[in-house]
Amino acid sequence: MPRLSLIIASTRPQRIGHQVAQWVLDAVPAGFTVTVHDLREIALPFLDEPGQPADGNYAHEHTRRWSAAIQATDALVLVMPEYNRGYNASLKNAIDYLYAEWEGLPVGCVGYGWHGASYAKSALRQTLERVKMTVVDGPGLEFGKTLTQEGEVSASATDDAALATMFAELLAKAR
Ligand SMILES: Cc1cc2nc3c(=O)[nH]c(=O)nc-3n(C[C@H](O)[C@H](O)[C@H](O)COP(=O)(O)O)c2cc1C
Repeated sequence: MPRLSLIIASTRPQRIGHQVAQWVLDAVPAGFTVTVHDLREIALPFLDEPGQPADGNYAHEHTRRWSAAIQATDALVLVMPEYNRGYNASLKNAIDYLYAEWEGLPVGCVGYGWHGASYAKSALRQTLERVKMTVVDGPGLEFGKTLTQEGEVSASATDDAALATMFAELLAKAR
């Protein structure tokens, strides 16, 4: 059975990312085994590897653990906020730690923010393509429409359909 990893990207103490993640998790179809990777719990330091990630020779145990987690993944979902029209720094850091591990991994992004995290998703796409992931479209939840600032999700039928389509594509492309 393909292994799906869901990354909760926000690390803020008062975040709403875990509530958005729950909406996503509730919709995972049969056919995946699911693991949640919470960047707040994983707590990677700012990239501190002496070598280039592309070489894959990791000096630190935290990098080896992160590498093993992503190698044990066949498809990925990122649950991601928008900060200052970009995606959050902890997510960039977690991506930068690795290189070959990302190649060929199908990834769907569920953004949330004032405009469905559209700026963040667009910036993220460039990074994901740089590390050779296969990007699949995902929904964006919008404050004032489908998400409250306290994290209550009231997704539209369009969001639910976009989520289902994202999972179907991830399942079809799982490595
Ligand atoms: C540093 C910072 C910058 C933000 N910039 C944006 C932004 O550019 N666009 C947006 O839609 N929301 C922005 N927000 C609001 C976030 O979307 C909102 O706080 C959301 O709850 C963040 O997700 P989190 O609670 O899971 O961390 C920003 C929030 C923070 C903390």
